[in-house]
Amino acid sequence: MLKPQISVELPAKNAYNYPIYIGQNLLDEYTDWLSPLIPGKKIVIITDEVVCKLHARNFAAILEKSGYDVLLLSFAPGEESKSYDKFVYLLDEMLKHKCDRHSLCIAFGGGVVGDITGFVAACFMRGIKYIQIPTTALSMIDSSVGGKTAINSEHGKNLIGAFYQPVAVIMDTNLIDSLPKDQLINGLIEAIKIFLTSDSEYFNYTLTNLGDIVSKDYTKLTKVIQRAVELKADVVAKDEKEENLRMILNCGHTIGHAIEKLSEYKMAHGYAVALGILVEAKISFLSGLLNHEQYVLIEQILTKLDITAKHLKHFKASDIVAATLIDKKNKAGNIYMILLASIGKVSQSHDGKFATIIAPDIIFQALSTFGL
Ligand SMILES: NC(=O)c1ccc[n+]([C@@H]2O[C@H](COP(=O)([O-])OP(=O)(O)OC[C@H]3O[C@@H](n4cnc5c(N)ncnc54)[C@H](O)[C@@H]3O)[C@@H](O)[C@H]2O)c1
Repeated sequence: MLKPQISVELPAKNAYNYPIYIGQNLLDEYTDWLSPLIPGKKIVIITDEVVCKLHARNFAAILEKSGYDVLLLSFAPGEESKSYDKFVYLLDEMLKHKCDRHSLCIAFGGGVVGDITGFVAACFMRGIKYIQIPTTALSMIDSSVGGKTAINSEHGKNLIGAFYQPVAVIMDTNLIDSLPKDQLINGLIEAIKIFLTSDSEYFNYTLTNLGDIVSKDYTKLTKVIQRAVELKADVVAKDEKEENLRMILNCGHTIGHAIEKLSEYKMAHGYAVALGILVEAKISFLSGLLNHEQYVLIEQILTKLDITAKHLKHFKASDIVAATLIDKKNKAGNIYMILLASIGKVSQSHDGKFATIIAPDIIFQALSTFGL
């Protein structure tokens, strides 16, 4: 056996934690959360053009007035901006404007802004601090927490990136005022997903109060966001690098990613995951795990959001199955899926794994029940 001459012993990594603030008017109270986090005076706010006009420009002006040196960078909204080009553009602008190791990045926007900004912060001078200010329901409930950062390549989505945690996440629910309803639903799906895997009580609460939540009843919406984030934070704390438990966050995503890809990313992530949840819940039922009554509740909550099997009919069963074969979770040519034992509980294999190997046949069988 080859023996190394020298071994590099790094000190055990310090435990790391960061605060998540959730509530109304948090941007107005920025002195409370910003001052302890910023090492210097330079702040880089990265946003997209829509969010810039609606919110980020005002916030940048407020910070400038109180003496911060603010660099405001924006790009066109949409998935195409999570690209090499924009990544290089952002880094170059930061170098041109003399940002340094003490500069603080703020990701001010939806998941696209959050993912690319996190990766920029991870790479700039080998890593600088960054804050997430999510502005969509999806980015509040899901993407701003957990430290997954990424850009896309022509070979696929999120293939280039790093695990890099923010120093804080500020969820000002007032930002949701300007968010269109379909974007709100797009994010709520991720809350429904995590309740399905981990909290039946909140699943029932969401089912009962869905109308008010979608109409932006702040008390109910905040309650749902807060619980979903609490559950995600707990999962991430236990398994940051997705070795096992974090896999449960991929519930609905095996089929969801396949549909998203087949739609050429025209279908929003949450809606594709919702269809994924529908099909995967049917597979859980057909596998003898989930009972029929609970399967019907899942169908019901999605129907209330107008997400039904009719949206699946745009796709061919063989294309869906073929697309699942290139999922990132796959190993040795097997398709992996998160199956539900019941609402609020993921099924585990005998060796404790949450991701289950699925035969293509059962996917075909489930899809055929929807007329595909
Ligand atoms: N890192 C993770 O863990 C993780 C998890 C899930 C998804 N994601 C990524 O998140 C991205 C999707 O995020 P998204 O759904 O937030 O999309 P997005 O960032 O593209 O935002 C959607 C649209 O909403 C607009 N918008 C944002 N905030 C607004 C506001 N307050 N008012 C009005 N309009 C607003 C944006 O300009 C954009 O046009 C994908 O790239 C996906 O891969 C990452």
